[in-house]
Amino acid sequence: MALRCDLIIRNATVFDGLGGPRFTADVGVNGDRIVAVGDLGASEADREVYADGMALAPGFIDAHTHDDRAVLCGPACMLCKMSQGVTTVVVGNCGISLSPVRMKSRPVPPLDLLGDETWFAFDSFAEYAERLRRDPSPVNTYALIGHMSLRIEAMNGDTQRGATDREAAHMQARLRQALAEGASGFSTGLYYPPNMMAPTDEVIAVAEALRATGGLYVTHMRDEANDVLQSIEETLKIGKAVDVPVVISHHKCSMPENFGRSVETLPLIDQAAAGQQVDFDVYPYAAGSTVLMPHRLREDVPVQITWSVPHPELAGRMLADIAKEWGLDPKAAAERLVPAGAIYFQMDETDVQRIMSHRLAMIGSDGLPHDAYPHPRLWGTFPRVLGHYARDLKLFSLEEAVRKMTGHTATVFGIVDRGMIRVGAYADLVLFDPDKVRDASTYDAPTRPAEGILETWINGQSAYVFDAGATKARAGRLVTRNQL
Ligand code: ZN
Ligand code: CU
Repeated sequence: MALRCDLIIRNATVFDGLGGPRFTADVGVNGDRIVAVGDLGASEADREVYADGMALAPGFIDAHTHDDRAVLCGPACMLCKMSQGVTTVVVGNCGISLSPVRMKSRPVPPLDLLGDETWFAFDSFAEYAERLRRDPSPVNTYALIGHMSLRIEAMNGDTQRGATDREAAHMQARLRQALAEGASGFSTGLYYPPNMMAPTDEVIAVAEALRATGGLYVTHMRDEANDVLQSIEETLKIGKAVDVPVVISHHKCSMPENFGRSVETLPLIDQAAAGQQVDFDVYPYAAGSTVLMPHRLREDVPVQITWSVPHPELAGRMLADIAKEWGLDPKAAAERLVPAGAIYFQMDETDVQRIMSHRLAMIGSDGLPHDAYPHPRLWGTFPRVLGHYARDLKLFSLEEAVRKMTGHTATVFGIVDRGMIRVGAYADLVLFDPDKVRDASTYDAPTRPAEGILETWINGQSAYVFDAGATKARAGRLVTRNQL
């Protein structure tokens, strides 16, 4: 049967996103949907792309981002993601979300990862969603609501303690409202100073709002170092208490004395997965990045500065070098640099690979888009998994790499009709060269765009073209759990 399409991508090596073996086919798109997969020799389109030998995959879903503000800033802000083939971002991670809270003074770290108080201007998730509708992003947005943002409002800034029952009830009500307005889950960052004061019971009381909608509980756990097993237990307990799926954020075993302990954490997660839904995201690097925390510095963990309010000129430098120049110890130097951000070289490559290879792993960048000198994961995560880990190291097949970025992630988050290539699915697509795809960003040159990503389409619109950069398309939508 001959079809008339808006777009046909011909003779592509198709990865279905579900882990099935690659196959050669033409893919036809009309409007925002895939309308045909197969031999479209008799069909024509307004635009035909000859893909011969190139890989066509569902657009990548970045399972862990801090793009709450970046999605409001137009195509230039999302170039870091579209140039990797990312078409959907999960925002609001680690307990940090732009809504629903208004702020009059600089937010406390790590909330300030998203910007200063002028960005915290959305009293409800509905206001945030309305802004996205009026001024759309090129990428699709899937939103979590952050515990820290809820706490600041409910506790009136007095967050160095557990919430009272009344305050927890207020947070629960605000979360329930946000879920009704299009948010999809609840995130915590129990590792971070004010939030670590929240006992498990407080988290359960707030998360209770998830039960009715089955929204996800997503967590940067209380501890990823010595107490990582207890933290996994706490996460599982919270999920069970309110009967919702849980996602462990950027799973890792942190600090030298815990290197190798993914042989303990992964079996614990496997065992739990038999009785409740639990998954995790991971980024493909042995260094993390967050705000600079002087009281948590260690001699055996090198630190690189990513931004500093009092000393912007020092972004990119090693803390040890700065300290030496100033004639200070690293902690005292760090005190002078805050508010600031940092990269911490605190993981073991063997753990990173073992965690990434696990069947439950989703790829999430955890990129920090407003850092002056960001961790290279912001620009490199997805091509690094495809090129370095799947193709070069053969850690897993390219089919499996794509599944960890698309179909598996869509299933976990309940993102309907995305993350796969089949008739009827949304036309979120990425065309890449499987022999050339690789990350080009490094700790020394962190914003170099990836190589081998040829074109990215979002809801049927071309959003990124290699060499030309971001197009003017702004076809992204708010995507809500289990909704068409
Ligand atoms: Zn985190
Ligand atoms: Cu994060």
